[in-house]
Amino acid sequence: MESMEFDLLIKNGTIVTPEDAYKGNIYIKNGKIAAITNDELRSDVGEVVDANGKFVFPGFIDTHVHSRDPGATYKEDFYHSTQAAAAGGVTTVFEMPNTNPPVNNVENFRKQVANLKSKAFVNFGVWGICLGHLNMKEYEKLHHAGVIGFKFFWGYAVHSETFQLIYNYKPGMKDVIPPFADGEIYEMFQEVAKTGQIFAIHAENHDLIQRLTQKVEDRNGRTYMDLLEGRPSLAEELTIQSGIAMAKKTGARLHILHVSTAEGIELVRQAQKEGYPITAETCPHYLFLSAEDYDHIGPQMKVYPPIKYKKDQEALWDALQDGTISHVCSDHAPHTEEEKAGDLWSIPAGMCGVETMAPLMLNAVNEGKISIHDIVHLLSEGPAKLFNLYPNKGVIRIGADADITIVDMNKEHTIKRNELHSKSKVTAFDGFKVKGVPEQTIVGGTIVMRDGEIIGPPTGKFIAPNASN
Ligand code: DOR
Ligand code: ZN
Repeated sequence: MESMEFDLLIKNGTIVTPEDAYKGNIYIKNGKIAAITNDELRSDVGEVVDANGKFVFPGFIDTHVHSRDPGATYKEDFYHSTQAAAAGGVTTVFEMPNTNPPVNNVENFRKQVANLKSKAFVNFGVWGICLGHLNMKEYEKLHHAGVIGFKFFWGYAVHSETFQLIYNYKPGMKDVIPPFADGEIYEMFQEVAKTGQIFAIHAENHDLIQRLTQKVEDRNGRTYMDLLEGRPSLAEELTIQSGIAMAKKTGARLHILHVSTAEGIELVRQAQKEGYPITAETCPHYLFLSAEDYDHIGPQMKVYPPIKYKKDQEALWDALQDGTISHVCSDHAPHTEEEKAGDLWSIPAGMCGVETMAPLMLNAVNEGKISIHDIVHLLSEGPAKLFNLYPNKGVIRIGADADITIVDMNKEHTIKRNELHSKSKVTAFDGFKVKGVPEQTIVGGTIVMRDGEIIGPPTGKFIAPNASN
């Protein structure tokens, strides 16, 4: 059989850029965008998608996903999380390194890439983890091998045998390496700075949290306000402040993960004004929820850092508007429904997010909070540029990877936990009504999702833009 001139045509859609939107036909061949035209070409096309009345975006990128694979696959795995991603219009995810084993050296990195490859419905990058002296000699090697960036869980203790993170560390715990002190953290900054890669931190001051939480527990405080008293905005502020100071000295490309406070984002804004390459992300739960929502949502909304107050939410929207925040990601961190069913104090922090991120952000466009062009900036171009994927990804142009998300901005949808594609259906957004829904997800020229259904096998590719071999 004669091969087609093009594999796929997306016709009549409105192609969205950070400043503009235009009608066009996108022709795809061998996983790449081969042509963009006003008129239809006289040529053979394998498959045609009519995107008339729809918006066509460079595929959404979620830089912050915990699929827990390998290690805690009873909570989630890559087979499920990447279907959830595709269902939510996401064409690339970056997998977090706090797996078991963690991505702490090249051997575990290679094993992880092999593990994820066969289950990937979308493209994926893999983070490396920084565990102080335990793996400081590995950063350079991990960098060359192809990690997407380095993550440091500031203030978290580590299990001495498995290198697993301890989420609620208390002094005196057994088989535990306590949280790294500032001297060692400074060395990590220096070592990661040498690689030139992003150094991403979970920013919460454990010392303050331990002390304040103990006080709250001693008086039997167990409400959401008590949780915030034990884990206040100051915890984030202090760590971001230290991080910025260390980044200024070392030249590290500091990135603040899931910023949740007005104070924290203001520090980032100031550092950026001074010209330092410091960036920040936030997540839908910090943008759409605040402490007041606890009364009707309940413990499901427990995440670390915790969702703060309305004033923080407003400051984060301002930071999206003025560009202080480089992109939005989900911090997809599922736990089982049983684990999340207990009381606020005992349950783990984290919830699903990769599938609901884009619908929530698109709804914000319909509500007039941001523009349709901001979506490109926050979910496609922004992350692509920050992580060195641009212009292969993050833009619709000839020669780019054919990762494309087609959106119906008029479609209304109610988020329902039972319809999520994740293994554990845990979300604070159950029952949320949104207008603006990803209708088709195209990964490397293959249609992976249509009308919420996953179609076809996992064809996602591993991406390592910084690898040297
Ligand atoms: O809420 C959270 N859950 N925050 C984190 O930083 C980690 C995550 C997890 O892995 O469960
Ligand atoms: Zn996370």
